[in-house]
Amino acid sequence: MEKITSLAKRRGFVYQSSEIYGGQNGAWDYGPLGVELKNRIAGAWWKEMTRLHDNIVGLDAAILMHPRTWEASGHVENFTDPLVDCKKCKSRFRADQIPQENLAAKKCPDCGGELTDTRKFNLMFKTHIGPAEDTASIIYLRPETAQGIYVNYKNIIQSNRMKIPFGIAQIGKAFRNEIVTKNFIFRTCEFEQMEMQYFVKPGTDEEWFSEWRKQRWAYYEKLGIKMDHLRWHQHGPDELAHYAKDAYDIEYLFPMGWRELEGVHNRTDYDLGRHTQFSGKDLQYIDQDNNNERYIPYIIETSAGLTRNLLMILCDAYDEEQVADKGNDDDWRTVLRFHPDLAPVTVAVLPLMKKDGLAELAQDIRAELKEDYATDYDQAGAIGRRYRRQDEAGTPFCVTVDYQSKEDGTVTLRYRDSMEQVRVPKTELSTRIRSEIKAYKRIK
Ligand code: GAP
Repeated sequence: MEKITSLAKRRGFVYQSSEIYGGQNGAWDYGPLGVELKNRIAGAWWKEMTRLHDNIVGLDAAILMHPRTWEASGHVENFTDPLVDCKKCKSRFRADQIPQENLAAKKCPDCGGELTDTRKFNLMFKTHIGPAEDTASIIYLRPETAQGIYVNYKNIIQSNRMKIPFGIAQIGKAFRNEIVTKNFIFRTCEFEQMEMQYFVKPGTDEEWFSEWRKQRWAYYEKLGIKMDHLRWHQHGPDELAHYAKDAYDIEYLFPMGWRELEGVHNRTDYDLGRHTQFSGKDLQYIDQDNNNERYIPYIIETSAGLTRNLLMILCDAYDEEQVADKGNDDDWRTVLRFHPDLAPVTVAVLPLMKKDGLAELAQDIRAELKEDYATDYDQAGAIGRRYRRQDEAGTPFCVTVDYQSKEDGTVTLRYRDSMEQVRVPKTELSTRIRSEIKAYKRIK
């Protein structure tokens, strides 16, 4: 993880938030490569969940919601972690994450000091809206994006004439006052989620639950993720969230071990039932194709962390490869083997020399490619070094412009993964790259 954190900072994927002030715990900033990668991951998920499904539509709801939302959802009452403090070294722990013998003996696992009693700590960030800081002005930063979908479910049925089964997808920020934020961007206080809520007829929920588990697994396979680094974990009765009847996590083998990447939950009619009760509005679905049968739909949720996906994709793509045996540092390269659809830069254009019109020719080629791809241009230093820089950024294709390019209009296309180089007419570059991306298969 240290290598990934350091590469992420050095190459501008992720920086510590407010670093010049010593950093802000639980918050991170996404640099030039990081924001591109994050946007691509979001784009791939959005395409998968909306464009490829005729019956799933998108939404972008506000982060600030009516405070009753969080009473109805159960978060005010139930969204808590058990917390203990050490009276001696002042360390703070989640009671469920320290050895049970320490908890029973009230003994700090770090210094042996005395622990406080366990108390419940609500993870929602609370603030005030408007000038008066009284109880009437309390407002929460949403701890999940899902509730924005539930409160809009009737609006969307009406505006888009949706018929059950149908889904609503959303990507957005969520906030949790996490007690333990370690392992880089794995668990943070400010993060992004990619959630899809699928509304189904009660009684068909288990079938849809199983179908969505299949689809979410296939999604990661399509992205070229190492499948032996993924596994399912079904929640036991003591792990289930207050809203869930059944839940499975897709776990990934991160450098610190197996950890949750995404959850698929059968939320039953809990959420819409509670919103009906708290808002006084009728949230039943009226099935016009079935004698106007009325029911509160069940909800199958797929909930993935966008920022956690980014960490997973960085870990999954990271590779160190020996490419020579000369006994020096250059024998090894660091390469990020991103799927070309996710790579922050798809193609980098490199003139062999700055002089003799090669730089100008390379700039012209880049200008044409820009219309179709995210591009980079680099003319600084030896060509081998420049390839290494692009390998480290995960750029799948490099185009090198040399003296022959001036004569016959061909360029070298270099592949990140195999390091193979082929000569291609510059006029065919764009279509060639497009077909390479379509045919992409991970080789390592
Ligand atoms: N709406 C359901 C829900 O929020 P969750 O299991 O609490 O379920 C879903 O969260 C996903 O959101 C997790 O699998 C994880 O990827 C991401 N996530 C949750 N808390 C996070 C945090 N503090 N930092 C980063 N990602 C987080």
